[in-house]
Amino acid sequence: MVLNSPRGTADIFGKNLEYRNFIIKSAAPLFEIFNYSEIITPAFEHTEVFSRSIGTETDIVSKEMYTFIDKKGRSLTLRPEGTASVVRAVVENKMYTGGSTLKLFYVGNMFRYERPQKGRMREFWQLGIEAFGSDNSILDAEAIWILNLLFKKLGFKNLALLINSLGCHKCREDFLVKFSKYLKPLSRKLCSDCRIRAEKNPMRIFDCKKEGCREVLAGSPKIISFLCRKCTDHLNKVLEYLEKLGINYRKDESLVRGFDYYTRTIFEMVSGDIKSAQNALGGGGRYDRLVKQFGGPDIPAIGFAVGIDRTVMLMEELGISPGEKSKKVSIYFICMEEKYQYYCLEIIKYFREKNLICDMNFSSRNLKSEIKQAGKKDYDFAVIVGEEELKNKNITIKDLKTFKQYKADWDREREKILKIIGAGEHE
Ligand code: HAM
Repeated sequence: MVLNSPRGTADIFGKNLEYRNFIIKSAAPLFEIFNYSEIITPAFEHTEVFSRSIGTETDIVSKEMYTFIDKKGRSLTLRPEGTASVVRAVVENKMYTGGSTLKLFYVGNMFRYERPQKGRMREFWQLGIEAFGSDNSILDAEAIWILNLLFKKLGFKNLALLINSLGCHKCREDFLVKFSKYLKPLSRKLCSDCRIRAEKNPMRIFDCKKEGCREVLAGSPKIISFLCRKCTDHLNKVLEYLEKLGINYRKDESLVRGFDYYTRTIFEMVSGDIKSAQNALGGGGRYDRLVKQFGGPDIPAIGFAVGIDRTVMLMEELGISPGEKSKKVSIYFICMEEKYQYYCLEIIKYFREKNLICDMNFSSRNLKSEIKQAGKKDYDFAVIVGEEELKNKNITIKDLKTFKQYKADWDREREKILKIIGAGEHE
């Protein structure tokens, strides 16, 4: 029987894993210098954690959640994103810090029942940050700064940062009155989903990709024109700080992002090198009412998440390298017969204690093919252990790059051995 992985999931290994580790390793120290610490939350939550925060009329909640009933009849959902889980964790663990900000980052797999295509998976990985405790525009600029630095560090060039503001509760109310009025005579041009959205949650019409709905939206009022004084000032300050930091941005009045929890600043990092709709490598925004909605105090917050799989895909496509490979020397041990393994073990132990990458032939004893394999796998040296080596207590070292061969006395010539393999220089 051949079993395949479920549609929209992937096994991650080899080069892909190298890229993903490079992304995570680049992000973690960046988060650290901005004073973020890591949080790990469960991969599944009570369904309400997501439905109430992301919004029941959003695509994610209405169509894309992996929801199941457990053996005790509880409705649980595999997390489709990280923000709601982190907010739930902050409130549940009362991680409040008084006046100062609480800054958390996470790396995790997310699940959305979407139609899989290039850059869109059903299980995918995100790394993200969430900062709680301030509505100061400088915190917005700081979050965008981190996102920008991360992609710079990874080696991307052709990226654009889109930014918009959804205003506060009050701005939204004013906008929705006008928007609903605008939609009324045009409702028959909307798709069936959007007609329901027009009744229940008109903001979500902006997420629709259908041509007819896009046309209706093209002439519609935009939320940015309904921002109150405070929200306008807030956005302007964010933009001023970004300019001060030398971060290029593009104001995008039609950016809405598919979550109900956002207030004020929202942003997205998109790639000019991806022509499909899946061109967002990361995105985020402010969610000043969510902590309170979860039963916590009135604490404003902001965050973003980066799609790791999509970032890997684009790095590979653009030929961006996943950083410098480890410079550690690697040695492949070829033990010619089982009876020499005892001696071989003594030598390999010594090299592993010197922190060098070592492996050995566990099955095949064919010298020629083993050397060929070791070369293919990019080992620096082969150490050959056979009858002659055991008898005279020496080792044979073959440089797999130059094909030079050396012999050295195992007990008396350790320094010479280390010099041959350049262990000192490479460590
Ligand atoms: P999001 O825009 O839904 O935001 O996801 C962030 C990133 O995850 C996207 O830009 C994309 O790169 C990646 N992504 C999303 N869906 C998929 C998929 N099906 N397959 C592959 N990659 C995908 C959030 O999730 C918010 N929680 C971000 C946030 C944090 N807002 C505030 N704090």
